[in-house]
Amino acid sequence: MTTVLSAPDTSELRRLSDLTPELALREAASFLAHLVGDPAFLEAHIIPLLEDAIGAEDWYVAHHYESQEGSYSLQIFVWPPGSETKIHDHTSWGAYYCTVGSVLEERYERLDDGCRLDHARLKKVWQLSWSTDDGASTVLPYDEGIHRVSNPGEEVAVSVHLYGPRRGRLDGRDYDPSRNYVCDRMEA
Ligand SMILES: [Fe+2]
Repeated sequence: MTTVLSAPDTSELRRLSDLTPELALREAASFLAHLVGDPAFLEAHIIPLLEDAIGAEDWYVAHHYESQEGSYSLQIFVWPPGSETKIHDHTSWGAYYCTVGSVLEERYERLDDGCRLDHARLKKVWQLSWSTDDGASTVLPYDEGIHRVSNPGEEVAVSVHLYGPRRGRLDGRDYDPSRNYVCDRMEA
């Protein structure tokens, strides 16, 4: 079940939403590093999730905290072993920090020019494993942050994500490279 986090330092988060995506990501990464380095935050919001995650098969957002005006969204993801997202992008900048276990991120770039409806050709450009010691991974909006996140390991992973303001009404897009397909995604 998704629950709403008690308020973190919202003045800091609001300030991020006024910056360019590139600058905001730098600040977001250090905001997340500070947050996941706080023992009180870990004890209150992360450790209890590990028991709840037993038996879960798919990934889920366990907590989220959103600003009323939509300028940011702070979310805690739980990744049971074997779970993975679709290949997707976001309509906002985003940064995440794996704070328990590790997740695998595959990153893609788009080879077509986007002019054909529902069509996208992707090429995988890198994959990296992220754990607490690796810092934050970041994505820019749309084609500059096409990725898949998964947990190929044997243990539950938990990550903390911070997203900036959405550009437009969509949450992002989902891709299926097996048939060169892309579609809009309305909700996370
Ligand atoms: Fe994502």
